[in-house]
Amino acid sequence: MATMVDVAAHAGVSVATVSHVLNDTRPVLPHTRQAVLDAIDVLGYTPNTLARSLVTARTRSIGLAVSAISNPYFTEILQGVEAGALEHGYGLLLADPHDDPQHERKVVQLLHERRVDGLIVAPSADPDALLRYLGQHNVPTVFLDRLVKAPADHPFRFDQVCAENAEPMARLVGHLAERGHRRIGLVAGLPGFSTTNERISGYRHGLAGAGLPYDERLVAHGDSEAAAAERATDALLSLAAPPTALVTGNNAMTIGALRALRERGLSVPDDLALCCFDDFAWADLFAPRLTAISQPSKEIGAQAVRLLLERLASPDHPARTVRLPCAFVHRTSCGCAEPPGTSGASHTDLSQKSPAKGTLS
Ligand code: HPA
Repeated sequence: MATMVDVAAHAGVSVATVSHVLNDTRPVLPHTRQAVLDAIDVLGYTPNTLARSLVTARTRSIGLAVSAISNPYFTEILQGVEAGALEHGYGLLLADPHDDPQHERKVVQLLHERRVDGLIVAPSADPDALLRYLGQHNVPTVFLDRLVKAPADHPFRFDQVCAENAEPMARLVGHLAERGHRRIGLVAGLPGFSTTNERISGYRHGLAGAGLPYDERLVAHGDSEAAAAERATDALLSLAAPPTALVTGNNAMTIGALRALRERGLSVPDDLALCCFDDFAWADLFAPRLTAISQPSKEIGAQAVRLLLERLASPDHPARTVRLPCAFVHRTSCGCAEPPGTSGASHTDLSQKSPAKGTLS
């Protein structure tokens, strides 16, 4: 098996230069760098990452802990993280915390014990134990999707990235109100997630913007998953004065809502108009096609990697929160006719309207 000494001899450079090329520890002249890369290629040299980690105290790996990995929203986040990590020469270790605080604390410790250089985590609704662990061990961490508050008693610094939630949700509600709906129901997510709170607050803003009162009976908790959303939708439809339109708080809950409607033999949009938070690949295969908010999921993942690498380079950098804009994908489940001259959807980038576009705070 070829060694670094062989590579150095083949390229006509010192072992130290080979090491600088491999570890990016010092700038190397382009032609020297190329000679090293050619030698690596010719000799089939593979670096011993364990040995390298002992020298650099870095493993060039990122631990990613996200639940509901089969949900296309999180799968796309994973794709964004993976591509970003690979681009910078980092590998990924993946764990699924199942949105359970105890399990979350355990898998994060496992990743940390593997000496990942940093973590990217979509935190559970109750991340106290996780925050304590991360703060205690000062693990460079980026949270994504659900925002968390820093513990008051610890100077632990972390960065966060998520989509805009309130304004896009208000847009869906405003759209249904413009179409004449006065009773708009919401199937909301799991209490405790910042995404849930922000989407509920967007729902209220949307109603207020249309001059409609907030009626808590029209909000049912679907706990961010399909089965609970099916029950929540059923409860809304059982009201003495049921909603004439529905907004769902995420893609899984949209599936649950559609199941509840099918059970009752109701059709969209004739019996009930429907707008969804979260677009997904088959949202335009439903009849009617689903009007939805599309989240920048891949970009959330890529941005999380950027924030983490910046944090690794500058550990004392002030904490940052990045918000990314969504798009309104206008199809027909809202009751509108097929948008003219399109393949069934018109996309409106909501970044112009959003004051906090890609902002740092
Ligand atoms: N957060 C935000 N968007 C989502 C989620 C979530 O947990 N699940 C599906 N879409």
